[in-house]
Amino acid sequence: MLGQRKPCDFSAQPTIHPTEAGQRYGVVHQRSHYMNNDPFFDHKFVHESYQTQDDLAIRILSHQRYSLQTENIFDAMTRHALTITHPQRILDIGAGTGAWYQRIRRYAGDHCFYLAIDQSRAMVKQLEDNLLHDTQALVRRGSAENLNDELGSFDWIGLHFMLYHVADIRDVLSRALKLLRPSGLLLCATNGSNSYEEMMARHQQAARTLGLPYQPSHGIDRFSLKSGSRFFPVPVHKVEVPAGLLFPSIDSYLSYYGSGFCWQGIPSDSHTPEIKEQLIKTMAELVRPHFEERGALKLSNTSGYFWTQK
Ligand SMILES: C[S@@+](CC[C@H](N)C(=O)[O-])C[C@H]1O[C@@H](n2cnc3c(N)ncnc32)[C@H](O)[C@@H]1O
Repeated sequence: MLGQRKPCDFSAQPTIHPTEAGQRYGVVHQRSHYMNNDPFFDHKFVHESYQTQDDLAIRILSHQRYSLQTENIFDAMTRHALTITHPQRILDIGAGTGAWYQRIRRYAGDHCFYLAIDQSRAMVKQLEDNLLHDTQALVRRGSAENLNDELGSFDWIGLHFMLYHVADIRDVLSRALKLLRPSGLLLCATNGSNSYEEMMARHQQAARTLGLPYQPSHGIDRFSLKSGSRFFPVPVHKVEVPAGLLFPSIDSYLSYYGSGFCWQGIPSDSHTPEIKEQLIKTMAELVRPHFEERGALKLSNTSGYFWTQK
């Protein structure tokens, strides 16, 4: 869980090399020397945040339950990608719990090969369990920073809702582009920069009320629909998908807030279970009048994706 600190083991260690059609993959994990005050791309923080899949699962479930739109961004993006090129091999970098995988199987069918990579042991374990019976899918632990051509080449490569965690975004995108086959598609879903403004304003107030050190975080804005295009070494298209969440109860809102947003702008050494509890309690007091007056709370979170064809 976020805030439960465990020794960081980002040390260099080879991945258990999987084979696909006899080919071995050589992704390795390296000790990160890149530390920054902004927890959003502090490797230690990213490592901690995704130590279990609980928080990501809360966010995905909240989007399923409370989304104001009927169409999910992964549905729209995958269907669009199929109008451009049909894939045989797909690489999903920072795959998490496999939100894209489900749409790939739904729209692109069972025959294309799917390779997921994630730096988190927990995500890899969860995805491995989910994909156990899919003979055309593999999951490996590895980091986006170490992509190399031993992985082979791909028709679709996705880096969804993860580039804002990467220190050198341009380098990772260049590496991904090299792995694309001719006519292949690079797809990068992310949030709009105005996402979660309402929640972030109250979060800042909660942090100040508790006297916590708070530095406005670039967070998601590091790679948003507004800022993202400048990181691509090639021209890209952008598709915006307006989105929003309607939380029906204070508990649903607090659960979403506690799934990671509560740490934005707060240095990693304050990420303890006690501080998280205080932040959630303080947030509850700040947001309660809204729920009492209006019964529900709307949170805007525009999302979308960049795409480019090789
Ligand atoms: C917000 S989740 C998104 C997961 C999934 N792509 C989705 O859209 O549902 C970010 C994921 O990226 C992974 N991640 C973060 N930085 C990474 C890196 N440098 N290399 C590989 N995976 C990374 C995290 O472990 C986490 O699973």
